Amino acid sequence: MDMASINSNFLKLKAGYLFPEIARRVKVYSDTEANYGPAARIIRCGIGDVTEPLPRAVVQAMREGVDEMAEHKTFKGYGPEQGYDFLRQAIVDHQFLGLGISADEVFISDGSKCDTGNILDIFGKGNTIAITDPVYPVYVDTNVMAGNTGDGDANGTYSGLVYLPGNAANHFVAEVPATSADLIYLCFPNNPTGAVATRPQLEAWVRYAKKNDAIILFDAAYEAFIQDASIPHSIFEIEGARDCAIEFRSFSKNGGFTGVRCAYVIIPKTVSGTAPDGSRVPLHQLWGRRHCTKFNGASYPVQKGAAAVFSEEGKHQVSALIDHYMGNAKLLREAAMAAGLSVFGGENAPYVWVGCPAGLSSWDMFDKMLEEAQVVITPGSGFGSGGEGYFRISAFNSRENVEEVCHRLKVLLG
Ligand code: MLT
Repeated sequence: MDMASINSNFLKLKAGYLFPEIARRVKVYSDTEANYGPAARIIRCGIGDVTEPLPRAVVQAMREGVDEMAEHKTFKGYGPEQGYDFLRQAIVDHQFLGLGISADEVFISDGSKCDTGNILDIFGKGNTIAITDPVYPVYVDTNVMAGNTGDGDANGTYSGLVYLPGNAANHFVAEVPATSADLIYLCFPNNPTGAVATRPQLEAWVRYAKKNDAIILFDAAYEAFIQDASIPHSIFEIEGARDCAIEFRSFSKNGGFTGVRCAYVIIPKTVSGTAPDGSRVPLHQLWGRRHCTKFNGASYPVQKGAAAVFSEEGKHQVSALIDHYMGNAKLLREAAMAAGLSVFGGENAPYVWVGCPAGLSSWDMFDKMLEEAQVVITPGSGFGSGGEGYFRISAFNSRENVEEVCHRLKVLLG
């Protein structure tokens, strides 16, 4: 029979992506007539989506960008696929100064979720993939889609992946495994646990990658939330990382760009992979080729806005946003601790990672919080079986909502 066949790897995926699934459950709850009263009180601390308006400097720059588009003299059509030089240079000058990164090693995109998924385009089949557990589900699902895994079990654990356990004992910083892997996904500050890796811990990963000829895919989307001065913001602060790491950065969580869309990937020209004939090929070259073929660049007004994040005014405004969210995180941490729960994260990251009350699974706690306190959290098991028994509270919210969540936690568990 002549029919269009599908990528059957998709059939291995669990039914829905975590956050739409949570939204669906919240909708079912709030659509139930009997819940009409309490449901009206729902506060969402599930998805890590920013709530505060864009920094004024960003808005101003985006307006200027739009105005330029309105005049023949300054109108712009397609921009460079890799991003405008003004933004690539601003990134290097403000985020990677002294780390040996050059502007042409920065690739601008429309988001880190896309980048962390799309990066698999440039890697071959048969690589051993290591991920932490719990983990940001995008890393897992995109590997399933690409055919890099076997089947999944009921917990969403896939054969063929190397899972690096995070737990209370290692403070959710996975240890370097004894076996070898080819691609390793690391996310610090971590989503979902809020854990951060110290310099020695990152040094151990770089040593491991160099020894095993592996590539570290380092997701630093939350670096702006680091408060502890000893914690590295970039993998490129570690000696040798230029030979074995790619870093993903985003404007979503610092500049509040979740609805604007802008991110970037750093691929040093010195990091390479192996071709079938054994020769080494720079990943920079492959990603550049991919970008030009599949992407036409982020929009000009958006890139103007992103560059404004690094202006003096922009930096102050972003720093006020971070202070706001980290103030929320502190309140949430304290409230969860006062309720007698074990608490991780929330000190260098906008996520508070909390142990469920004894006897409750992650989804039990999700239901309890939704039905009895009208607060949406994210069940830890949605991030992998290592997250079972935990839940994540996002600190992205107004202060008023966070104070109300703390109050409801106290009433519910106090
Ligand atoms: C989350 O809640 O984990 C975030 O929305 C992840 C993301 O930025 O895609």
